[in-house]
Amino acid sequence: SVYSDPTAASLAVARRIADLIRGKEEKGEQAILGLATGATPVKVYAELVRLHREEGLSFRNVITFNLDEYYPMLPDSEQSYVTFMNRNLFDHVDIDRANVHIPDGTLAMEDIHDYCLAYEQKITALGGLDLQVLGIGRTGHIGFNEPGSAPNSGTRLVTLDDLTRRDASRDFGGKENVPTKAITMGIGTIFKAREIILMAWNQKKAEIVKKAIEGEISSDVPATYLQLSESVEFVLDEDAASQL
Ligand code: GLP
Repeated sequence: SVYSDPTAASLAVARRIADLIRGKEEKGEQAILGLATGATPVKVYAELVRLHREEGLSFRNVITFNLDEYYPMLPDSEQSYVTFMNRNLFDHVDIDRANVHIPDGTLAMEDIHDYCLAYEQKITALGGLDLQVLGIGRTGHIGFNEPGSAPNSGTRLVTLDDLTRRDASRDFGGKENVPTKAITMGIGTIFKAREIILMAWNQKKAEIVKKAIEGEISSDVPATYLQLSESVEFVLDEDAASQL
């Protein structure tokens, strides 16, 4: 669906997430959410915080799994996705910290493989993700699944694309400070979610959105794999949709 602007789109996505949480709560179940970072979902999280404060939306029964984290990365770094999630969402709602999962950027290299398998297994043991929200990078990455990622890939250590590091350079005060690697859920992990929402706004995403939705399905643009899923919805603003 296409909305007039990022705010309208963000409110609609937040509403969907809130409805999911409330629906689960009524059934006495937990909502298992896959969450994304970046500029794109910031207003979605702000609206969830508002719904918590003003409409009593509770996160007591919410379990979250974030898509990715830079590697190496200390959790209390300014640029970590842990810091991002705390500031934008978790510090402001009643979520149980034990229910929050974000890939660990402090692991020793030799522990990463087992850690990633365990991350997958935790999601599976909970019955899978009810909803995964995604942004999209200009390389066509979802999470940090850069070009070359396989459709059945799982959570793993990846090398970041040069364009991705350039796009992140502002946050790090220069590209040379951006980590070269990240831990990300795989395309296969994302695909197992019962519902997937990919959000994109602004003109600078128009070209990659066109490729993702209308381009040939290829590992060159990992987001094109989403064309194969029946559970995916693209939520765009008019600028991001302008080349469709
Ligand atoms: C980062 C994240 C992605 C995100 C993408 C887009 O690299 N790992 O999950 O979707 O960049 O970022 P933004 O929303 O800031 O454009």
